[in-house]
Amino acid sequence: MNITEQKISIEKVKQSKINQVDFDNLSFGSVFADHMLVCDYKNGKWEAPKVIPYQPIVLDPSSKIFHYGQSIFEGMKAYKDANNDTWLFRPLENQKRLNVSAKRMAIPEIPEDYFMEGLKTLLKVDEQWIPKNEGSSLYIRPFIFATGQGFHASPANEYKFIISCAPSGAYFSGKVKVLIEEKYSRSANGGVGFAKAGGNYAGQFYPTQLAVAKGYNQVIWTDDNTHEYIEEAGAMNIFIRINDTLITGPTSDRILDGITRKSILEIAKDENIKTEVRKITVAEVIAAAKDGSLKEMFGAGTAAVISPIATFGYRDVDYDLPENEDSMATKLKKRITDIQYNKAEDPFGWRYKV
Ligand code: PLP
Ligand code: COI
Repeated sequence: MNITEQKISIEKVKQSKINQVDFDNLSFGSVFADHMLVCDYKNGKWEAPKVIPYQPIVLDPSSKIFHYGQSIFEGMKAYKDANNDTWLFRPLENQKRLNVSAKRMAIPEIPEDYFMEGLKTLLKVDEQWIPKNEGSSLYIRPFIFATGQGFHASPANEYKFIISCAPSGAYFSGKVKVLIEEKYSRSANGGVGFAKAGGNYAGQFYPTQLAVAKGYNQVIWTDDNTHEYIEEAGAMNIFIRINDTLITGPTSDRILDGITRKSILEIAKDENIKTEVRKITVAEVIAAAKDGSLKEMFGAGTAAVISPIATFGYRDVDYDLPENEDSMATKLKKRITDIQYNKAEDPFGWRYKV
């Protein structure tokens, strides 16, 4: 069945909560728009999606999400421009990646029209929730989880696909200080690191708590085998500038194929910035920090956009990154956000009007 916007039923809230929201002081992902899109998978197929008031979900205690963690998600944003038009950024990449995650976690894939028409319908209903303030946007969280019941350790036969939205400001406030992790791993070859599976993030919390207790904000993940290679920064891809070359690791079983990452690589080429996609060792970064050729490190992701790293710690030594007048992070962040907020030309065709 093809989904057109007409087939998506809409039940609106009796009373909007929007007047309770301080749009000038938004944190990240902590207040939620009035509505959500819900779509159930039963009897081997996805049922018609519907927009309903944002509300709690009732689940049986034996639902497999609770026991076996069959759950995946995406992160995307909607932006308002000066004409009050609404834009998404490369939304089909999120839809495709949700299905990459679905396949790995034995979850049924969501068809493109269910995802896109459902999302557009929801955004039209909750349009007022898209912040207009500089630097703010509507963070969109599509997710699928197993509602099917039973303690048998096998894939569920029922699932729920939900999209909920949170008007949000910056993910990080202030300078980011990270710790290079050598004991714990985020992912492994043959594992699920390339999928946005909920458990990947749960597994990160404990090592991150240990880093936070030492005064850091995030962990820099290294490869699980040798811990010699730099892989990701928390829930962001990582970029390292040595002299005038911007380096990021290749995507793999262990590294998420970030949409911000691949967009930055294309923008950098367009800006004639030299880029290298290759494995990068901790030793190389330490040597570059010592000889002054390490100019910048930054994390890249939808939630955090581009987050410059001010300091990184490794084996009880902190290394401060220099302040750069010609910061690549600043330049690339401006280019990508100008495209996202429809403030500049989009030669790549990434912007998507809702
Ligand atoms: N790496 C991880 C582990 C993530 O969770 C995310 C967030 O989505 C990213 C990288 C960045 O990906 P994207 O730019 O598509 O948001
Ligand atoms: C995103 O950047 O959208 C993410 O999904 C990261 C998230 C864990 C906040």
